[in-house]
Amino acid sequence: MKQITSAADLQAATTQAKSQQLTIGLVPTMGALHQGHLSLVERALTENQMAVVSIFVNPIQFNNQDDLARYPRTLEADLQLLADLEHRLSTLAPTVQLLVFTPTVKEIYPDGTPTEVYHFGPIEQVMEGPQRPGHFSGVATVVRRLFDLAQPTRAYFGEKDFQQIAIIRSLLDQIHYPIELIPCPIVRADDGLALSSRNARLSPAARALAPAIYATLQQATEMAAYEEVDDLRQWVLDTLASYHLINPQPDGLCFQPEYFDIVDALTLQPIASWDEASAHGAVGCIAVWLDGVRLIDMVKFTD
Ligand code: PAF
Repeated sequence: MKQITSAADLQAATTQAKSQQLTIGLVPTMGALHQGHLSLVERALTENQMAVVSIFVNPIQFNNQDDLARYPRTLEADLQLLADLEHRLSTLAPTVQLLVFTPTVKEIYPDGTPTEVYHFGPIEQVMEGPQRPGHFSGVATVVRRLFDLAQPTRAYFGEKDFQQIAIIRSLLDQIHYPIELIPCPIVRADDGLALSSRNARLSPAARALAPAIYATLQQATEMAAYEEVDDLRQWVLDTLASYHLINPQPDGLCFQPEYFDIVDALTLQPIASWDEASAHGAVGCIAVWLDGVRLIDMVKFTD
């Protein structure tokens, strides 16, 4: 494994790899790595001849400065996890080169805060979009920069950020880069909570309560056989909002759902009936506040 901090050095390494016809897998991350990230890195390492993992907390995708300041930064532990994974995979993928790109903000944005703005139409006007103005343009800006530097054959993204995957798909359509987008399934803790770097900020009591989000979503997938879309949507919101009334919690802990939408898996537009999503499948995406931490998750209702 090799750590690279300079954008020019990364581009030189991937240019050389491309001249040797090597395939390159990119896993963009903001660090605080967990098993969800490692599942993406494992795929990148086993499906390509070079894997690039970027660790960069991208300031321009945060519309809340407090969230940016409190975002966990655990570089030493991240590097150790990647070294351990590389070691574990060394018999499976002995010749694969793993580059870990850990740039500064100046290295990614040498001319200061970028002014470019990306638009994604209806797919950014739902769910996360209205809650986080400018977020997806900030994501697209950094991901394009990472694409330019890492020159990947394939790029790996987790399905927990389901809307982000649709945004990257649209970005690739707009910029015409021949990169294969690989969506990867959510990795969950044993109790069902979707792994997320933000989970580290939950108090022990909130961490114990958080699995109720996925339990509620799972129950909703069972109810989809007989409930109308809109009734089910409201049921999920009501169940979480009133959870603490039925199951009293310490320190006034409660869920504050921000949104729960049931949408077409490709267009991300809310559906009114299950039939509407028959071509692409229906997914439910949720954002919930718990203990001052914003958690997101998603389930597939139909494929
Ligand atoms: O999903 C994330 O961690 C970030 O949005 C990404 C894709 C690394 C861009 O900063």
